[in-house]
Amino acid sequence: MRTAIYPGSFDPVTAGHLDIIQRAAAQFDRLVVCVMYNSEKQGLFTPAERADLIRRSLVELDGVDNVEVDYADGLLVDYARRQNANCVVKGLRRVADFEAEMQMADLNRQLSPGVDTLFLTARPNLAFISSTIVKEMARYQVDLRGYVAGSIADDVTERMRQQLEEAE
Ligand code: PNS
Repeated sequence: MRTAIYPGSFDPVTAGHLDIIQRAAAQFDRLVVCVMYNSEKQGLFTPAERADLIRRSLVELDGVDNVEVDYADGLLVDYARRQNANCVVKGLRRVADFEAEMQMADLNRQLSPGVDTLFLTARPNLAFISSTIVKEMARYQVDLRGYVAGSIADDVTERMRQQLEEAE
């Protein structure tokens, strides 16, 4: 059984992430999408909430019966080992992503030589979408449909509204 991990912050999961999930799911027997902690990013949603948003987004997709959603602390390579996965999938949106992603892939290979990273390039029409861009649009009440799954668009807008209200 070929298992891959698709790790990320997913705060929140975007249309770009969903495209990578769908394409990676077609390449492996089992794909585990795992919300992991990125020490450089502060969250709008908790890890458990992000995992829930991913699950709800997947309901709208075909070809994802072999996809599981989880969240975890700790090192990605340790999580991969626990899941019997020897491949990590990452999406590359543009050249700017490449530097940091290469560094993470090299570090992960150093920490666990058995774990390799497979990069999937974003579809050009989705390459500009990121969780940061989605949050920026939510801040200004832009309709998020098309940037995130329709089933979670209102939740993202509402959470941002709450956060801005609390910050006042
Ligand atoms: O969506 P992101 O923020 O680019 O995802 C980054 C993530 C969460 C995959 C990365 O920070 C990660 O692997 N975190 C887990 C801790 C870890 O293994 N760190 C060492 C590799 S950077």
